[in-house]
Amino acid sequence: MIDETFENLLKLAEDEENAKKAELAAKGELPGEDVENAEGNNQEPEEDGPLKVEIRCVTPPDEEQQKAIATIMQEKYGASSVEIVIKNDPSAADGFNIFVGDDNYDWTTLGRIRQLRRSIQKLPKEKKINNIISLIKDDLKGFKLNLGFQQVGEVLTVGDGIAVIVGLKEVEYGEIVLFECGVKGMVQDIRTNGTTGVVLFGDASEIVEGQRVVRTGRTAGIPISNRILGRMIDPLGKPIDGGPDIGAKRYYPIERPAPGIIDRKSVCSPLETGILAIDSMFPIGRGQRELIIGDRQTGKTSVAIDTILNQKGKDVVCVYVAISQKASSVAKVVNILKKNGAMDYTVIVSSPASDSASLQYIAPYAGCAVAEYFMDHGRDTLIIYDDLSKHAVAYRTISLLLERAPGREAYPGDVFYLHSRLLERSAQLSDEKGGGSMTALPIVETQAGDVSAYIPTNIISITDGQIFLDNELFYSGQRPAVNVGLSVSRVGSAAQTNVMKKSVGTLRLDLAQYREMQVFSQFGSDLDDQTVIQLKYGAGLMQLLKQPNQSPLTLHEQVILLMCAREKMFLDIPQKEIPKVARELLDWFAKENGTLCLSIEHKKVYSDGLQKKVLKAAKQFFTERKKSE
Ligand SMILES: Nc1ncnc2c1ncn2[C@@H]1O[C@H](COP(=O)(O)OP(=O)(O)O)[C@@H](O)[C@H]1O
Ligand SMILES: [Mg+2]
Repeated sequence: MIDETFENLLKLAEDEENAKKAELAAKGELPGEDVENAEGNNQEPEEDGPLKVEIRCVTPPDEEQQKAIATIMQEKYGASSVEIVIKNDPSAADGFNIFVGDDNYDWTTLGRIRQLRRSIQKLPKEKKINNIISLIKDDLKGFKLNLGFQQVGEVLTVGDGIAVIVGLKEVEYGEIVLFECGVKGMVQDIRTNGTTGVVLFGDASEIVEGQRVVRTGRTAGIPISNRILGRMIDPLGKPIDGGPDIGAKRYYPIERPAPGIIDRKSVCSPLETGILAIDSMFPIGRGQRELIIGDRQTGKTSVAIDTILNQKGKDVVCVYVAISQKASSVAKVVNILKKNGAMDYTVIVSSPASDSASLQYIAPYAGCAVAEYFMDHGRDTLIIYDDLSKHAVAYRTISLLLERAPGREAYPGDVFYLHSRLLERSAQLSDEKGGGSMTALPIVETQAGDVSAYIPTNIISITDGQIFLDNELFYSGQRPAVNVGLSVSRVGSAAQTNVMKKSVGTLRLDLAQYREMQVFSQFGSDLDDQTVIQLKYGAGLMQLLKQPNQSPLTLHEQVILLMCAREKMFLDIPQKEIPKVARELLDWFAKENGTLCLSIEHKKVYSDGLQKKVLKAAKQFFTERKKSE
């Protein structure tokens, strides 16, 4: 509708040059009666006063021109009378710069240059050279007054990546505004006193007090197409891997409402991490949000990266969002992905620690938009936010600079909304909506294992479960350091494959029992045989769950290990050797029982016959191994 109105205004403007404007406006035939509601037309005429029209110029308009302007404005704002104020402004040479409230009709040479610049920027790249000349020619020949107006504001103060502007009364939350120097900003704080807080994306040093700011009427978005796969971009969508432009024609808004209930279906297919401890006990379904939480250096990033590696050949698009990380850490991740051939289906959105808080703040939303693009095209996607504690800190920084009231741990009150609106965008879409999905693995870093801090508790309550990585376990050599007691997955079991679910059996319970017994047995020395076996079995399970990073296990490998473990086949193996023997067992299976492995992988259904076959083969392996010793 805005465009329509704009078109109408342009039409109107065509005739202005011939001094017919007054006549035309007098007819009052502005097509489309609803101009009143259009953007920028909401300057309410004051009940008991004329509409104030300020004309900034060097040479004041003559009587006739003034009358024409008055008539147009009267029409446009539905005012009963108009009061024209003429101000001398050297910058408005060769024309008039007209203000009605925040609305600015720039009829000066400078304004025309701005218009010309915009039309050049809009040209497709390859056509630019050819078109520029004709465009300039046209513009000079045409030389018509363009009625186009803009709402403009002025910079009041600037500093710390935040600008406070006055004017722009109708600007919307999250809208992108453009400063005269070319820097963009996003509206983050609309205050009752008529000022607006804007976070800046770019070099604030060029912004000075009093500089012009215009609305763009758009919220932040990133250019996107399939070509984004395998690339590394910044939160504004600009490639930062030294490669060519994405060259996308479409923009995806970085903030978008989450899919509604009707557009979703329940989580139904698994997203395998390739990590035995997770896939067996805390299965993740496509569309689920599973938090990875733990202290620093407990293998959180490793779990997430392994999950990406495990998606190879599974037609899942992965997005890794690095928030406020060292550039060297991000480079390490990229190297791992490249080395394992996982970069082809992965997009990295990086906002390193050197970025401004505002860029770090929008990074996860930008990553989410990338995943959304693929989800909307019916693809399964996986997104990793590494990590949201740093994101919350970036938001806290912005909020405090915007002088918002700090609450618990100095975070502003709306910090919960920050992450809930992000994580709610993960979904398993219904078949009518294309059946795409977005699985989210947000990461949160705790301090000294304190999960009851503000941000961890918030995010735990938003997600569908958490993988808790334990410092102590990690340093005792139990890696991945999944804490079985504190981890949980609330919806994933519905999506777990039949063969996996049946093979896991009571693994979690067995481990819980083991932990309890372990504590208990520390005090007594006389243990009955049953307890000794239980302890040995539990310790063996823990050994079996050890897994080096970058070596995800396939479904059939996990199933074979679980079936053998539950049959207590590893009981006679010395604890330390279990991980090695497990690997040998799997290699032996692949060599000697390839068809059995394939049938588990493809059928994904459990049967007693299948279990018998696996156990029979495994027995053969263990006896052969014993003999060779
Ligand atoms: N399963 C594992 N086996 C062995 N080492 C691991 C494992 N997982 C992580 N690590 C190592 O632990 C270190 C910290 O891992 P990282 O994922 O960066 O932790 P975080 O993201 O929690 O800070 C890395 O050097 C990584 O190689
Ligand atoms: Mg990390």
